[in-house]
Amino acid sequence: MKRLWDTNFPLLILLYLLRDVTSQVNPGVCRYPLGMSGGQIQDEDISASSQWSESTAARYGRLDFEEGDGAWCPETVEPDSLKEFLQIDLRSLHFITLVGTQGRHAGGIGNEFAQMYKIKYSRDGSRWISWRNRQGKQVIEGNRNAYDIVLKDLEPPIIARFVRFMPVSDHSMNVCMRVELYGCEWLDGLVSYNAPVGEQMSLEGESVHLNDSVYDGAVIFSMTEGLGQLTDGMCGLDDFTQSHVYNVWPGYDYVGWTNESFSSGYVEIMFEFDRARNFTTMKVHCNNMFTRHVKAFRQVMCYFRSEADWEAKPLSFSPSPDDVNPSARFVTVSLANHMASAIKCQFYFADTWMMFSEITFQSDTAMYNTTLAPPKTGGGPPTSTQPDDSNTRILIGCLVAIIFILVAIIVIILWRQVWQKMLEKASRRMLDDELTASLSTQSEVFSYTHNNPSSSSGPSEQESSSTYERIFPLGPDYQEPSRLIRKLPEFTEEAGLTNAAVAATASKAPAATVGQDGVPHYAEADIVNLQGVTGGNTYAVPALTMDLLSGKDVAVEEFPRKLLTFKEKLGEGQFGEVHLCEAEGMQEFMNKDFPFDITENQPELVAVKMLRADANKNARNDFLKEIKIMSRLKDPNIIRLLAVCICSDPLCMITEYMENGDLNQFLCRHEPEGQLALISNAPTVSYSNLCYMATQIASGMRYLSSLNFVHRDLATRNCLVGKNYTIKIADFGMSRNLYSGDYYRIQGRAVLPIRWMSWESILLGKFTTASDVWAFGVTLWETLTFCKEQPYSQLTDEQVIENTGEFFRDQKRQIYLPQPALCPDPVYKIMLSCWRRNTKERPSFQEIYRALLESQA
Ligand SMILES: *[C@@H]1O[C@H](CO)[C@@H](O)[C@H](O)[C@H]1NC(C)=O
Ligand SMILES: *[C@@H]1O[C@H](CO)[C@@H](O)[C@H](O)[C@H]1NC(C)=O
Ligand SMILES: *[C@@H]1O[C@H](CO)[C@@H](O)[C@H](O)[C@H]1NC(C)=O
Ligand SMILES: *[C@@H]1O[C@H](CO)[C@@H](O)[C@H](O)[C@H]1NC(C)=O
Repeated sequence: MKRLWDTNFPLLILLYLLRDVTSQVNPGVCRYPLGMSGGQIQDEDISASSQWSESTAARYGRLDFEEGDGAWCPETVEPDSLKEFLQIDLRSLHFITLVGTQGRHAGGIGNEFAQMYKIKYSRDGSRWISWRNRQGKQVIEGNRNAYDIVLKDLEPPIIARFVRFMPVSDHSMNVCMRVELYGCEWLDGLVSYNAPVGEQMSLEGESVHLNDSVYDGAVIFSMTEGLGQLTDGMCGLDDFTQSHVYNVWPGYDYVGWTNESFSSGYVEIMFEFDRARNFTTMKVHCNNMFTRHVKAFRQVMCYFRSEADWEAKPLSFSPSPDDVNPSARFVTVSLANHMASAIKCQFYFADTWMMFSEITFQSDTAMYNTTLAPPKTGGGPPTSTQPDDSNTRILIGCLVAIIFILVAIIVIILWRQVWQKMLEKASRRMLDDELTASLSTQSEVFSYTHNNPSSSSGPSEQESSSTYERIFPLGPDYQEPSRLIRKLPEFTEEAGLTNAAVAATASKAPAATVGQDGVPHYAEADIVNLQGVTGGNTYAVPALTMDLLSGKDVAVEEFPRKLLTFKEKLGEGQFGEVHLCEAEGMQEFMNKDFPFDITENQPELVAVKMLRADANKNARNDFLKEIKIMSRLKDPNIIRLLAVCICSDPLCMITEYMENGDLNQFLCRHEPEGQLALISNAPTVSYSNLCYMATQIASGMRYLSSLNFVHRDLATRNCLVGKNYTIKIADFGMSRNLYSGDYYRIQGRAVLPIRWMSWESILLGKFTTASDVWAFGVTLWETLTFCKEQPYSQLTDEQVIENTGEFFRDQKRQIYLPQPALCPDPVYKIMLSCWRRNTKERPSFQEIYRALLESQA
């Protein structure tokens, strides 16, 4: 026990020193998430004006949460009405410096967000104040999409217990929000100060406005019931005509008075607190530019009110006058442990002018945290490092902090080394295992696998972060960093849409399908596992999607089996086979709801998935479920389920097949345009057609990802080519012997297309839309190299897995696929962005799609 104390003792001193350095709030440090995402704010403290449905109630308005239907959504937001709000009760006064908002993404299904909002706040729950920025503007720019978190600095910061987010719109619309507040507890406890209004000085013909420009109470002849510049955490500069704030009038930072208006010789300020407190000190930040007749106060007399009455005897303090140092400073007044809930102080003029920029109170033993000096933020508030009477303590604190950091760095370095060793050992062991495994052709189709929306995925996926991680905005507009789309010029519909087929999907917003039939129920995320005909084919589909997909009309019809003519076996699996067939009269079965390139009265090529007659009951059920899902996938770039034969055994699923076979074989047969092709007389494909095909793949994947489907095996071998370079994404690859070399059996695990897989899919078994994006990058590479070689053909399977480890370690030793000869820089950039280590930094299919269109424009 004693030893424990001994070892902890220096740490305690250190923490004490660190904690003790600041007795006033520092907006640069006070940026802790206040508990919407971390859960410290209880559900009952989150309320709202209205809710769209029970599953979009106020309690779902937590930033980064995907619970319920993914966000708080009020009833329709009407223009110019501030009826709707999401209210958070923080239970005590807080200093709030930053707000974060996010829309409803719900794993790709949601698409509602607030483009603009206002904030109202209250300290007592009855008087509500509209927040405005330093320029007087109330509206805050919100989100641009449903998933990115947008952080906005509150300038000035808010001191409040209750905060309301009020979505604003210029037309009637559905809006959903997830929010977080950042700041810290307001330990000063100050609820309001009442003071005479600040005055105007004329200086060399120019007016210096010394009013309290952000005061949030009533301002008539005096200021009452509010807080403002004296509590905004921002200390004025030595020269009061200058300011930290950009583009404001001279004197902005200070509230000032002249002795000419005060015959009594003092300015009286009354401070009201949230409760009776035991006060130790008051610090008043004063200007002392004596050359301009501005000086700190000569004397202060403070009266205390503890219960209802003012104490008769005031406390008096006279700082030593300073005619030498013109810098602004904190003057510390000891309040000698008086208990009070209100303090009234009379500040006596020492010269013609007296100017304050900040007044803080220290009570009880509470202290603001101070950690390392935070990185300077774009327009962020400066940290207050004004001359203070606790200079030596700051110095000691800093030194200790530096030691502390050094120790921390050493620990981190050591830890990293150990971790790396472990990892290397682990991957070596894995490789050893794998060396004994043989490449297997056993078929196992990984196809459209649905993500569980309750486990976040895709662009909404967040790396787990510690609860008290401080947030510092990274850019001037405080967006989440590096979403590719921001770097790209804005997409214009006219310029971008190059073909009708692609255009058909461009306008289709994923949210529309959900919005119409109200909010789907996917709180109960029971997963349905489907096994396709070829064996280990896993479709994990949450109940929601089953609802969504198994709508009233399963639009597939029974097809007369006798009209199918067998042509070729495409693949085989544990539970059945896939045949290439010709189907007579298939035209009648094809849906009229989107264009098909059908040749009249010619037998159509179709792929027929057949379940063995002796398959067990589970396999049969799964096969039928797969039919349900497939029948609802309708996109010009996704293979369609045309018809079924389920009236008798064997059960069959008839899907499209395209005359030019798969993209891999198709490109292998072709050459790029150029001299070589001329000589060899080989058929060619132009670069623009390659791009057209790649764009269609992106478009099809965009559709799948909008439904939150994860394909898991995107590659050229799984894309079929029709007339005029049309492309449809399918999932036959794994069942074909032709491509057995593309799959690799990891010991005890599935057969996997490792050369197309993201590092996290290989190492962590995580398949998400972001890992599909990775595979798309590889598919794009294959396309632009005419599939003349396998990706990483110079690496063995084992080396590919080793390379995966390098992607994970991210020490710049990973090998990227090289830039194909045909590939212009912007397109190679798209590929590289698909292979970013951080899943959140990879572009979405929507972004890829637009970027590809852009690259052709
Ligand atoms: C101090 O830091 C903790 C997290 O470490 C935070 O929750 C708390 O709000 C901070 N308090 C103040 C007054 O800054
Ligand atoms: C303070 O003075 C400036 C400059 O005259 C003026 O624009 C502003 O409205 C004033 N603010 C308040 C709260 O009186
Ligand atoms: C205020 O706090 C000081 C130091 O903690 C203590 O000695 C004093 O008794 C307290 N005063 C009151 C009135 O509680
Ligand atoms: C204001 O202060 C100046 C400088 O101390 C002094 O000369 C002047 O008389 C004072 N004016 C009034 C009205 O007290």
